[in-house]
Amino acid sequence: MPSTNEIRSTFIDYFTKNDHQHVPSSPLVPQNDPTLLFTNAGMVQFKNVFTGQEQRPYSRATTAQKVVRAGGKHNDLDNVGYTARHHTFFEMMGNFSFGDYFKEGAIEFAWNLITKEFGLSKDKLLATVYADDDEAAELWKKIAGFSDDRIIRINSSDNFWRMGDTGPCGPCSEIFYDHGEDIFGGPPGSPDEDGDRFVEIWNLVFMQYFEDPPGTRTPLPRPSIDTGMGLERFAAIMQGKRDNFDIDTFQSLIRASAEVTNTDPFGTHKVSHRVVADHLRSAAFLIADGVLPSKDGRGYVLRRIMRRAMRHLHMIGTKEPTFFKLLPALITEMGGAYPELIQAKALISETLKGEEERFKTMLDRGLSLLADETNKLPSKGKLPGDIAFKLYDTYGFPLDLTADALREKGFTVDQEGFDSAMNEQRSRARAAWVGSGDNATETVWFEFKEKCGATEFLGYKNETADAEIQAIIVNNQSVQEAKEGDEVAILLNQTPFYGESGGQAGDTGYITSKNAIVTIINTQKKLGDLIVHYGKITKGSIKVGEPAAAALDHKERQAIKAHHSATHLLHQALRNQLGDHVTQKGSLNSVDRLRFDFSHSKPLTPEELQSIESAVNEEIRKNEPVVTRIMTPDEAVKLGAMALFGEKYGDEVRVVAMGNDKEKLKAWSIELCGGTHVTRTAEIGLFHIISETGVAAGIRRIEAVAGTAAEAYFKQNEATLHETASLLNTPSTQLVERLQQLLEERKSLKQQVSKLQHQIAVGGSEQNSAEKIGNIEYVMRNLGDVAPKELKSLAEGLVRKMDNGIAVVFSSFGDKASFVVAVSKDLSQTVNAVHLVQIASDAVGGKGGGGRPDMAQAGGPNAGDYQIAFDKILEEIKKLSV
Ligand code: ALA
Repeated sequence: MPSTNEIRSTFIDYFTKNDHQHVPSSPLVPQNDPTLLFTNAGMVQFKNVFTGQEQRPYSRATTAQKVVRAGGKHNDLDNVGYTARHHTFFEMMGNFSFGDYFKEGAIEFAWNLITKEFGLSKDKLLATVYADDDEAAELWKKIAGFSDDRIIRINSSDNFWRMGDTGPCGPCSEIFYDHGEDIFGGPPGSPDEDGDRFVEIWNLVFMQYFEDPPGTRTPLPRPSIDTGMGLERFAAIMQGKRDNFDIDTFQSLIRASAEVTNTDPFGTHKVSHRVVADHLRSAAFLIADGVLPSKDGRGYVLRRIMRRAMRHLHMIGTKEPTFFKLLPALITEMGGAYPELIQAKALISETLKGEEERFKTMLDRGLSLLADETNKLPSKGKLPGDIAFKLYDTYGFPLDLTADALREKGFTVDQEGFDSAMNEQRSRARAAWVGSGDNATETVWFEFKEKCGATEFLGYKNETADAEIQAIIVNNQSVQEAKEGDEVAILLNQTPFYGESGGQAGDTGYITSKNAIVTIINTQKKLGDLIVHYGKITKGSIKVGEPAAAALDHKERQAIKAHHSATHLLHQALRNQLGDHVTQKGSLNSVDRLRFDFSHSKPLTPEELQSIESAVNEEIRKNEPVVTRIMTPDEAVKLGAMALFGEKYGDEVRVVAMGNDKEKLKAWSIELCGGTHVTRTAEIGLFHIISETGVAAGIRRIEAVAGTAAEAYFKQNEATLHETASLLNTPSTQLVERLQQLLEERKSLKQQVSKLQHQIAVGGSEQNSAEKIGNIEYVMRNLGDVAPKELKSLAEGLVRKMDNGIAVVFSSFGDKASFVVAVSKDLSQTVNAVHLVQIASDAVGGKGGGGRPDMAQAGGPNAGDYQIAFDKILEEIKKLSV
């Protein structure tokens, strides 16, 4: 009897042998389809290949695709555990032809695989075809040798497969297995078709058309093939079981659930064990693909699945968190085929455990409220909506969990009452917000938040995503359409763009639609979880409701990530070096640098900065993984996470851990952070501190560069160095010596210049000799471009040579007038240098000047008027002379 793992391998090997490329399963979060909550078929990752938009180097492919059908359009959650073939997670095996083989090839491959490789008897098989698909009917006759009664024509949507309201589609042909007469049920198309006797095992879709808008079909460029075989139901047939939960994989998980709870796998808790086994698979695979429990979107579907399983475990009688204990059994079963389970083991385990710990505290009280309320209900009664809402809002009971609990007792829930209680709460929240004094122009965001819900952020894992345009805002007004040249704000249902928050800059990039390109220059967060893209339509026009592709600028995001991760390391390095009083006071992580403000009372010494920089670079080189987890703020603080002062944290926080502190047996840096980070520290590349300054009392600021910005910084510095070296005509290794030499030369030249100026000023030649009025000797000199600070000594030198002398020296250095008047000692009783210099100052538009009676100085803007100053001083000397 082949195991499920062997069946998967046989399928893949068969198609690989037949020239199909084995393509790995795409993640459960679809990257190229905004309309899908989760990947729900094998063809999702090939959607654009069918339409011809995307080219691949192969025209045949085969996959084992992870699929989740919970929440959204395909929601099997409610039935899981109670039926033989409903799952929230399953594997879809498929083969695909992109314009290569068509109907005949597809039927032939399928037929040979099931009858020859898997050895199923022809007598147990039959096929359906779309009502008017004579070609397919003929092929079944020819290839399988089926008589007409084994080829059933179906004239309904059951045999026309479409991936959604729009997109690739075509008639399909399904292969059914007959479990035999002793099981109730009729063939497909008959009134009893829903019985368990005839089970569909494989759907072959003949992809022929592209539908858009709904109802309008055009032929695809090349007819193609998409097939889907549910691995679990096929394994059931191969293992002689009628119920998918009886196959090996599920039985191992069910046994693990029974063992860990010490109960009978097939006793009173049979349904619960099945629910637990199924939900373990979807929860673990979703977490491995980057979904974490949250209040909205995909994260909330995950939470619903997890809590539903946790209630069943609780019913089985567990007191402690138990769900995570089943993970090793799942890894044993499926880790070989899906190594992502092994890679994400710690994250999955912790997420499951944390969620169960949190939920358990509310579960008991919630269940007792539910028991009180159901006691009041008549048989088959409806639980009032406000009670269901209270269970949801206060006790964390997702509505489907409540419904599941009621189902066992034959009760239902008043959905309308629940919805209206939910709406009332929203209105209250809105009223509170409107009154909170926030900027009125922001009202528009509140409306969108109510209408569209939170924007799903895909940017922790992805840099591109297909999305739907939910709103366009031009000048604070919501519009249906915007055209080329318009500056717009755009809301998408999901996006990889990070909205500026927590000091991390918003992403830039492009949003493109069929007709338009919008250049996004910034992304902001509004009201906590709306992500708003700001940009300009550079081509075409966009409309609300249109599909669009969002792609952020990879290089810029890498640079931002490097800075953000480096900031975490810097924070820890500062604490290690300076002490635990260091806490973050502000932070900025942009494309070209990081800025980190922190509490510390004095400037850092160059040695401290050196040592901090080295510590960060050492952590970078260790290349340890960066691990992200979700937990309550209390748990995070217990773990040693650095919570940021003044930040508001919700019930759950993201904890980013980096590096490995072997002594303390914990990560080197642990912080609460919603930002995006590198996956391993070495991606940061290099870290360099550019400056350290004070910004306020007790707060210091470090600016630094990391990654490509650090590289650019050093390149720029090196270029400056080379340029300097080449200007000085010396190798850069000898630059310092050369500069020292030049500075020495400059110093001695300055000394020489000053000496020469002195000599010129006071030199004994005829033209330099003093003139005389009465008993007063005087000299007045325009010294031209002499530095003002030299004037005093020059004037002194001049006056020293005279009896009863006055020296007036002027310079026009830097186009400004500077005067110094020196009066010899014997004369200073009668002539005041200050008085004379004030006369000069007046003449050149100065403010007066000052000094001592024997030596004074002044300046002024109008250097050209120096002669007027000289003349006026001369007049004054004449008055003073006797
Ligand atoms: N895409 C087809 C299905 O999901 C094969 O059934």
